[in-house]
Amino acid sequence: MALRISVIGTGYLGATHAACLAELGFEVLGMDIDPEKLASLSAGRVPMYEPGLSEMLLKHVAGHPGSTGRLRFTSSPAEVADFADVHFICVNTPQKAGEFAADMSYVELAVDALAPHLTRPVLVVGKSTVPVGSASRMAERLAALAPAGEGVELAWNPEFLREGYAVGDTLNPDRIVVGVRPGGRAEELLREVYATPIGQGTPLVVTDYATAELVKAAANSFLATKISFINAMAEVCESAGADVNLLSKALSYDERIGGRFLNAGLGFGGGCLPKDIRAFMARAGELGADQALTFLREVDSINMRRRSRMVELAREQCGGGFQDRRVAVLGAAFKPNSDDIRDSPALNVAAQIQLQGAEVTVYDPKAMDNARKMYPGLNYAASPTDAAVGAHVVLHLTEWQEFRELDPVALGSVVAERRLLDGRNVLDGPAWRAAGWTYRAMGRPS
Ligand code: UDX
Repeated sequence: MALRISVIGTGYLGATHAACLAELGFEVLGMDIDPEKLASLSAGRVPMYEPGLSEMLLKHVAGHPGSTGRLRFTSSPAEVADFADVHFICVNTPQKAGEFAADMSYVELAVDALAPHLTRPVLVVGKSTVPVGSASRMAERLAALAPAGEGVELAWNPEFLREGYAVGDTLNPDRIVVGVRPGGRAEELLREVYATPIGQGTPLVVTDYATAELVKAAANSFLATKISFINAMAEVCESAGADVNLLSKALSYDERIGGRFLNAGLGFGGGCLPKDIRAFMARAGELGADQALTFLREVDSINMRRRSRMVELAREQCGGGFQDRRVAVLGAAFKPNSDDIRDSPALNVAAQIQLQGAEVTVYDPKAMDNARKMYPGLNYAASPTDAAVGAHVVLHLTEWQEFRELDPVALGSVVAERRLLDGRNVLDGPAWRAAGWTYRAMGRPS
C-alpha cells in the first residue's frame, strides 16, 4: 500500500509540498494551527500568490468537484498521527525579534503537538530551515514524548524551493539531501517517497543530521554572497565609471563562476536569504566558529547599503531633498512572481523616502494587499501610470515583466519630470533615454 503522508505547517513550503505529493499520487493530510489558512486551503484557495499552485490544489483537494480527493486539511494532531506513515514538518523559522538567531518555537510546537499521539513506528521528516544541531535535539524530544519511543525516527530533508517557482522546484529539485541516523529506515522510506518523478534522475545525498542542516545554510549563504559580491562590484563600477551589467555578463561566461545570482541592483530580501545568513552567524557564534562566518556580516551590510544608495540616488534626482516631491515606486514584492513582501527591498526604500518627506505612491501587480497591511502610510495606485502621475522620479524596484513592457512615451506624458532609476538593471535604458527620460541604473554609467 502506498505511503500516507502528513504535512505539518501549510505556509509556502507546506502547501506546495502537500499539493505536489498529492499530484504524485500520495494520500496527503495537511495540518496547521491557523484556522483561516485551513479554511482557505480546504476551499481550494491558496492564501498567497504562487504560479501553478492553485490549479494543483484544486485538482486534489477533497470536496472540490472533479478533484482526486487525495488532499485534505485538519487542525488535529491526533488525526494526523492516526493517518500518516511519514510526517513532514514544514513550519517556518523566522528571525527572532531584535536578534539574529532563528526562532525555533514553531518547530518545537509541531513536534510537541504530534509526538504524544505517535503510538506506532513512523518517520518524521524535518524540512524547515533550522540551526545546525536542531535535528538531534528534535530526535531526542520525539523519543522522549512519543509513546512509540525509539520507534519514531527522524530525518532532516532541507527544502531549496524558490518562491515564484515553488511547484517546479518541488517537482524537479536540483538535488535531494537527506540527513539520517545510521541503522534506521528513514533512507529507505524517503527513497520510496522520492521514487516518484520528483527523484528520477535527481542526485540524492545521504548525510548525518548536522551536514544536512548545514547544506541549507551554506547554499543560502553562497547565493547571498554571490549577490553581494556583484553588488560590491557595482559600487566599484559606479566610482570607476564602469558598467556592472557588462562586467557580470563577462564573468558569467566563465563556467566556474556562472551567471545565475549575479544580477546587480537593489539586493536580496524575502523570508529566507536575509534571515538565514543571520541565523547562521548566530549559530556559528554559539558553536565558537563565529570567525569562520564574519564575511557574512559584510555580505549583509553590502546588501543593506544598496537600499541606502537607492534612497540617495532618488534624493539626488529630486534636487537634493524630498520635501514637496512625488516619488513613484514600481514594485512592492521582494522579487517578481511573488506577493511576498517580507524584508522587501522595494518597500524598505519606499518607506525610507516617505519618512524623509516625499509623497510616495506604490504599484505592484500582486503584492498590493500585503503591502497596504504592512505599510498603511504609503499611497497605492491601481496601475503603473496612476502611480507615476505627477512624479518627480520613478523608481523601478521589483523587476516584474509588466514593467519591462511599459511604454516610455506614454509614461512620460503623466510624470512631472522624466527621471527613472532602475534598481534592478533590467529596463531598456536606450529606449527610455530616446523618449526623453534621464535613465539611471545602479552600478552603471549615467
Ligand atoms: C531563496 C533560495 O533561492 C531558495 O533556494 C531557498 O529555498 C529559499 O531562499 P527565495 O527567497 O524564494 O529563495 O528567492 P531568490 O530567488 O533566491 O531571490 C532572493 C532575493 O535575491 C530576491 O530579493 C531577489 O531579487 C534577489 N536577487 C536574486 C538579486 O538581487 N540578484 C540575483 O542575481 C538573484
